[in-house]
Amino acid sequence: MQPNELNPLITHYEQGGILGRIKDGLSALGKTPTTVTAEDLSPVDEFHIGGRQATGDFLDQLRLNASDHVLDIGCGIGGAARFTASRYGSTVTGVDLTGEYIETGNTLCSWVGLSNQVTLLHESATDMPFEDGSFDAAYMLHVGMNIEHKAALAKEINRVLKPGAHLGIFDVMRIGDGDLDFPLPWSSLPETSAVATPDEYKKALASTGFKLIAERNRRDFAMAFFADLQVRMADSQGPPPLGLHILMGEKTSEKISNVVAQLSKNCIAPIELIAEKRL
Ligand SMILES: C[S@@+](CC[C@H](N)C(=O)[O-])C[C@H]1O[C@@H](n2cnc3c(N)ncnc32)[C@H](O)[C@@H]1O
Repeated sequence: MQPNELNPLITHYEQGGILGRIKDGLSALGKTPTTVTAEDLSPVDEFHIGGRQATGDFLDQLRLNASDHVLDIGCGIGGAARFTASRYGSTVTGVDLTGEYIETGNTLCSWVGLSNQVTLLHESATDMPFEDGSFDAAYMLHVGMNIEHKAALAKEINRVLKPGAHLGIFDVMRIGDGDLDFPLPWSSLPETSAVATPDEYKKALASTGFKLIAERNRRDFAMAFFADLQVRMADSQGPPPLGLHILMGEKTSEKISNVVAQLSKNCIAPIELIAEKRL
């Protein structure tokens, strides 16, 4: 792994002081680290289109339960991991390349009493420190847009899953022509963006021993989500106490405008793919 200051992807995500800003936001809402719940954190810890609603809609398809050990690939500050632990009772291990997210995420787990069920590790998705066949299921939300070699990623995920295990992918994918304007929420620069078509994902999955079992384009849901967000932003005086601006930093509005413009032009869309590791 490159030192943080040399890795433009980590520079994009690290903000410095994220935990302090979350604590300040909670305080403005009358909450403290001892009274906060996993649900309270959802405005800030779901760093993907559609937030908590999208997470539930997506993960319900994996049929997770309390005996499952689930892998969250590119877990960010752990919103989906805590959701999975709370909603399905599963044990979750998350990996992410951004050190500040892992530190913040593990502290948030301890605040909401989920440290015994959720562990977040500072590791790369393409080289994970797990034995073959360790996990009952895996998912990733808005991560593949940062990983160029989709087949290498799929191969590594396949390795750590048990035969028959499900993998859910919810990523922004390319569905039409046109240049992407930067910054975007997942990348400040074209060099660290690796947006691919659903067919490229499907080819990578098929070539590494996965069978596709479901696919859903969530563009309409995303457009409705952003329309609602724009109404709320117009009605409010500045950002809410807790929101994704804490993770996206100064260029939050620009990043959101660019995504909305490219969704509107049918250039990109958030797509779900559910696959199964062949027996
Ligand atoms: C847009 S954020 C999504 C975070 C989280 N999945 C969520 O939905 O809240 C993308 C995340 O992918 C992580 N990431 C990108 N490339 C990675 C890699 N090769 N290995 C592990 N994590 C990676 C980033 O550090 C970042 O936390």
